[in-house]
Amino acid sequence: MRVAIGNDHLGYNLKLGLIESMKEWGFEPVDFGCDSTQSVDYPVYGEKVGRAVASGDCKLGIVICGTGAGISLAADRVPGVRAICCSDEYTAEYTRRHNNTTVLGIGARVVTLERAQRLVKIFLTTPFEGGRHARRVAMLDDIH
Ligand code: RB5
Repeated sequence: MRVAIGNDHLGYNLKLGLIESMKEWGFEPVDFGCDSTQSVDYPVYGEKVGRAVASGDCKLGIVICGTGAGISLAADRVPGVRAICCSDEYTAEYTRRHNNTTVLGIGARVVTLERAQRLVKIFLTTPFEGGRHARRVAMLDDIH
């Protein structure tokens, strides 16, 4: 599975660790930058990941900044994308099961690499349940 990944300067180091893990787990991470710890603007990279997911080029996406919040907001503004910033395993699982979220936001200053690895693995391997949740997700997508 192709997984878009993007970050700002604060997310750069965590991204490197997550790319390594995703490859070990058999995923194909597609890196949309940024490529160093030099200060950049997170909306640029959140949008890139969002567009890659919305176009179908990548099935899911991961975005990382200091809090995970700003870059998630950027990805979520791309039509067709549902992005969530989360730092706990329960939310990572149920936002896939119930909300069919397609981009996971992580705060590099909020979680450890080990927790981030767990969140990403859960997010990438948990299916959407459909059923009554599909109607609610469609309602979300109707909000413009
Ligand atoms: C960058 O200084 C910081 O604002 C960014 O990484 C992120 O935390 C924004 O939500």
